[in-house]
Amino acid sequence: MKKIRFQNNDIIPSIGLGTWKAKEGEIEKALRSAIFLGYRHIDCASIYSNQIQIGESIRGLIKEGVVKREELFITSKLWNNRHRKGDVYLELVNTLKELKLDYLDLFLIHWPIAFKYDVIKPTKVDDFLSLKEVSLNETWEGMENCYKKGLVRHIGVSNFSIKKIKSLFKTAEIKPELNQVELHPYLPQKKLAKFSKENNILLTAYSPLGSKSRTWDKGGSIKEVLEDEIICSIAKKLNVTPANVILSWINSRGIVSVPKSVNPYRQKENLDSLNLTLEKEDIEKINSIRINYRYMKGKPFVIKGSEYTLRSIWDE
Ligand code: A2P
Repeated sequence: MKKIRFQNNDIIPSIGLGTWKAKEGEIEKALRSAIFLGYRHIDCASIYSNQIQIGESIRGLIKEGVVKREELFITSKLWNNRHRKGDVYLELVNTLKELKLDYLDLFLIHWPIAFKYDVIKPTKVDDFLSLKEVSLNETWEGMENCYKKGLVRHIGVSNFSIKKIKSLFKTAEIKPELNQVELHPYLPQKKLAKFSKENNILLTAYSPLGSKSRTWDKGGSIKEVLEDEIICSIAKKLNVTPANVILSWINSRGIVSVPKSVNPYRQKENLDSLNLTLEKEDIEKINSIRINYRYMKGKPFVIKGSEYTLRSIWDE
């Protein structure tokens, strides 16, 4: 398994198993097959509502001697309704309980958006907390406390723009170590990647295959990235799959990816991408795709009248 290193030399496996949209009835089996195939990095979040099942699978696999805790890299994320400093730690304790772990390898602020405590998904303007009331800097202090208490090995953010990361730098004692964002050939995140490299922040690509199972933005003018002509022609030439090409391209950029699959064949296919090294010429062809399309815009978090707009979320 190829690995990428944090500043302190700790490693994060280059490909992890995404678990968003993995349902209660299928996640346990999916996790077992992934671990047997060699996955050692699992990407979770409390909002995915499957951490209890993931925790049971992990505990079972450790008990059976299939894998040791220290061989696993487990990430989870703080949901938007736990942004107040004091709530961050309590939420981490809850996540650890769900996952049946005594520490996380990586804990991320899921979105730069704050909801009131009782809100899981906002339906009205009053469901939000203003960033003036609970700043991202305050939430970050909560994350730092979790690190200081020894319950997480690394801390970072998700869906953060360069501007928002720079603003965290102003008060952060510990700099964010990783930013998890949507990234694929239709959203290559070139500026963010450059900034992240200059600031020793690792990047993880979520929805690296374009999240085909999404229920929105279907059938419009934007194609599925897995069906892109350039990607498919490279795949055909090399006798591999489009997913292999995309994941190998992400890997060639020193970026981690967390493709989600509950299907053992596709899990293996995705992991096998690490055996593929693309020629410079093919990498350049993929880099020449200039679509810049975000599938995951965060639209469910945009309600007319609230301070959160697509522009304010992404700063673009
Ligand atoms: P499944 O879980 O049935 O394999 P993303 O990580 O970009 O969100 O993509 C996840 C979606 O893509 C899921 O619907 C998943 O379905 C599917 N998927 C995962 N791996 C592959 C692959 N190698 N080829 C095609 N589709 C895939």
